[in-house]
Amino acid sequence: MPARTLVTSALPYANGHVHIGHLAGAYLPADIYVRYLRARGEDVLFVSGSDEHGVPITLRARQEGKTPHEIIDEFHPANEQAFAGAGVHFDVFGRTSWPLHVEFTHAFFGKLLDGGHITKRTIQQLYSEKSRMFLPDRYVVGTCPSCGDSNARGDQCDQCGRTYEAHELRSPRANLPDDNTTPVLKKTEHWFLKLGDFAETLSAWLDTKTGWRANSMNTAREWLRLGLRERCITRDTAWGVTIPVDDRDADRKRIYVWFDAPVGYVTNTAQYFRARGDADGWRTWWQDQETRLVHFIGKDNIPFHAIVFPAMLLGQSNYILPDIVVANEYLNFKGQKLSKSAGRLIELAAILAVLPPDPLRYYLTAIAPEGKDTDFFWQDFQARNNSELADTLGNFINRGFKFAERYFAGRVPALGEPDADGRRILDEAITVAGDVGALLDGFKFKQALERFMGFARACNVYIDKAAPWQTRKTDLAAAARCIRVCLELNAVLCGLMRPFLPLSAEKVASAFGDAGSAPPVTAENGFWKMIGKTRLPDGAPLGRAEPLFAKIDDARLQEIIAQFEGP
Ligand code: 2FM
Ligand code: ZN
Repeated sequence: MPARTLVTSALPYANGHVHIGHLAGAYLPADIYVRYLRARGEDVLFVSGSDEHGVPITLRARQEGKTPHEIIDEFHPANEQAFAGAGVHFDVFGRTSWPLHVEFTHAFFGKLLDGGHITKRTIQQLYSEKSRMFLPDRYVVGTCPSCGDSNARGDQCDQCGRTYEAHELRSPRANLPDDNTTPVLKKTEHWFLKLGDFAETLSAWLDTKTGWRANSMNTAREWLRLGLRERCITRDTAWGVTIPVDDRDADRKRIYVWFDAPVGYVTNTAQYFRARGDADGWRTWWQDQETRLVHFIGKDNIPFHAIVFPAMLLGQSNYILPDIVVANEYLNFKGQKLSKSAGRLIELAAILAVLPPDPLRYYLTAIAPEGKDTDFFWQDFQARNNSELADTLGNFINRGFKFAERYFAGRVPALGEPDADGRRILDEAITVAGDVGALLDGFKFKQALERFMGFARACNVYIDKAAPWQTRKTDLAAAARCIRVCLELNAVLCGLMRPFLPLSAEKVASAFGDAGSAPPVTAENGFWKMIGKTRLPDGAPLGRAEPLFAKIDDARLQEIIAQFEGP
């Protein structure tokens, strides 16, 4: 077991509201993982924050007649709040506009420069006379030099997958909201990271890795196979981290957002410790070999986390490398990409205004795009909410509490000797906790949730067969034994729910009232290994149970959909 685990979620750009695709991709699985590790008693730090540089922010500012600072000051707090509303609890959600971030980015750049891994070159770049700016890759389209597709992007062709430099495109044109002019080639000087210097070490490092999903490993291997080219790490822009070199050209340029963004993970860790009066605390989390670094990202971020950032870390000489890069594929919406048009972009804050977070967390985990792209369908969400959360999980938990309240004076009935079915399901609980844990250890969130829900179904089968609503009239002791088993199972479900459905787990814990002092009902660190292995105190008074999950009927679903798609 590592001494500690540092978990990061990709820093979302602060140029718009985060949506459910973000949540499903890099934040919810990370939050589930962090909650699970804490439940196992491990030392964990969960770091994310806003990525506040990059051209899209400047373009949005220009379009809205604002400064880039006004844009990030709007979206950083909004996104932080949206994640909190979804129950995603970071230890730090930092900002790349923090002054401390300039220090860290400069230190990274400086060390690479001193090590001879950064070089300056004059290149030709596409320049728009109309917008009076060099065009970043994604703001150029043209004809692919490889397959001839006429809608190829500036850095990559979606048709054939080939990557190239923007000036290699045939018939290039600007792709800005108000500018489709033909750009000209203009000389400009830039700094390049010599990625090739690290190729061998990166390859040897990847050889040591097991348990990575195919998407991350294959992408990293493919990059190495094609050869690591020098990458331009500066841009002609005034928005970004300054370049720490004594050079006239540098004043008019800034460090490329993809160089400074991952350094943000380090900055934010450092800021977390500074706020606690420990200026050097971050070093243990980034420079001690006993720390395990786990990155959660969307698939488009793989090269940067599996090749470029590791190379930057190697160039610092005393940093750890990621243990694993966990990348999700994309969450689509009804078979199409999530996009701003036609109600297909479900912003997180907007959906949380009409739904509680746990059903959303449940559904997005149930359809997690782990091995392939998956689809969000409103009707599927409704069906799973109603049948799995409300009818299966919520109903079972509620039955045990309500029965105890009504027929056993709101106290935990004595366990005595459970019957064979009771013993079997209580034993099964221990196995389930082990299975769910092993699946989470392997980053198989969807399967872990299925195993958990399978157990909730087994709990229902148990109570349906034992039928305490009948035995209470004929054999009260049998009914008491059954309800006691159900309450033990509620404690197990409460423990298992904590990573996935934290708010509902809290409600279950409070329904135990004074009876809930024994693990695993408590949220204390380390309770996971006790799941199913402890017993509630005989006769302890229970608290009040509230319904956990509300069903969504068709009319309500239509109201919800209308919020996003219009009536
Ligand atoms: O794709 C994105 O949204 C980027 N802002 C992710 C950056 S991750 C990290 F490197 F900071
Ligand atoms: Zn092509």
